[in-house]
Formats: sequence, C-alpha cells, structure tokens
Amino acid sequence: MSNTKIAPSLLAADFGNLQRDVEMVNNSAADWHHLDIMDGVFVPNISYGMPVVKTINQYATKPLDVHLMIIDPDRYINTFASLGTTNLTVHFEACTHLHRTLQAIKDAGMKAGVAMNPHTNVNLLEDIINDIDLVCLMSVNPGFGGQSFINNTYNKIRELKSLINRKKAKTLIEIDGGVTSKNAKELVDAGADVLVAGSFVFKSENPTKTISELKEIAG
Ligand code: DX5
Ligand code: ZN
Repeated sequence: MSNTKIAPSLLAADFGNLQRDVEMVNNSAADWHHLDIMDGVFVPNISYGMPVVKTINQYATKPLDVHLMIIDPDRYINTFASLGTTNLTVHFEACTHLHRTLQAIKDAGMKAGVAMNPHTNVNLLEDIINDIDLVCLMSVNPGFGGQSFINNTYNKIRELKSLINRKKAKTLIEIDGGVTSKNAKELVDAGADVLVAGSFVFKSENPTKTISELKEIAG
C-alpha cells in the first residue's frame, strides 16, 4: 500500500487546456492538485489568481493544496476557503503572527500549512509545530517552476522529522521544487510524506504515466 502523496503542480500545466490538465490529474494516481499563488512581491513572479482557482475547482475532483507565495496572506483566507481549498499553506517568512494565521485558516474549515524557504531553519517551528497540519519545505527558491533541486533539503527533512516525532505532532512533510523520479525515493526515505512535482509531470511525454511512476517509486 502506497502512503506517499503526489501533488502535481498546475503551474506547469498548459493553461490553454486547463480543464484537460485538471482532468488528467483527476484520472491519475495523484492525490492532490497543487496550486501556486504568487503576488510578484513575496516572490519575483506572478502566477494566477482567483478566477483561475475557481475554474480549477470547478473541474477538480481531488483536494486543492494551495501554496500562497504572497505577503500578508491573512487578507485572503476566507476567499480561498470559498474557492474550495482543502489545504491552505502560507509562508513562514510572510507571517508576523503565524499562530493567529493558522487558527484563522482552521476556523475557515481548512488544513493549515506552513511553507519554508530553503534558508529558513526548520527548528524555528519548535513552538508551533503542533498547530501545523503540513510543512512545505521549499527545495528551490519559490517563484518559478523548473529549477534544480537544492541538496540541503535532505538534511532539513530529517531535522524536521525528528522535531515532529519529539513533539508527537501529526504534521505532514511536503517537498516542493525540483522533484523527479531520481530523488523521490531518497526524499521519502528521509521522511517526506507529500511530493509536489510540476515540470517533471507536465513536461513529460505521458503525464499520467509519470505520475504513476512517481507514486510507485515514492511507495
Ligand atoms: C515554486 C512552486 C512549485 C513549482 C514546482 O515556487 O512552489 O510548486 O510549481 O515546480 P517544479 O516541480 O517544476 O520545480
Ligand atoms: Zn508550490
């Protein structure tokens, strides 16, 4: 039985055929749809906003895993709840009152996630880990798909896993950026529970087959 979740990132989808690509994920071995929201301020790129999320939600049959790369994310918590979000992830670096933000996400009926940039030490979560459903460790600098994986991520996963175990938390570890069939197994062995993959899935010849392969390798 496979436990690792696969979350294809729609950032790498063909936006001219968005319905087709969302349905491809629906009919694949994937577990979640990963949605990357960028504001051009927190990260040096702008991706897509609410009307596109609304369209994705209209066709998606699997949970929406929304990754907010925006400043002051509190402003949009209720909006994303109303757009059908299951997991709402905010950046550690973008939240002054992270505890309050996480409570607001849960009060809006969603699972609360925290994403961390490659330079942010996972032990900064020591006093908040029991309130977090999902930690998204960025294995590239957020803002763009198709970048290469940063190797220090393995150490961060092991460190975070030991924090989670020590605190008896139930937090899932998600890895986002540069995930391929080459590093999937090592990531899971280090302690990853969810693998996000954008270009590796959507730029492949047969995305459905690539998702199955990732799922198989990740175990
Ligand atoms: C990067 C995004 C990722 C991105 C991953 O800022 O958070 O979710 O889509 O893309 P790949 O898998 O191509 O690195
Ligand atoms: Zn992402």
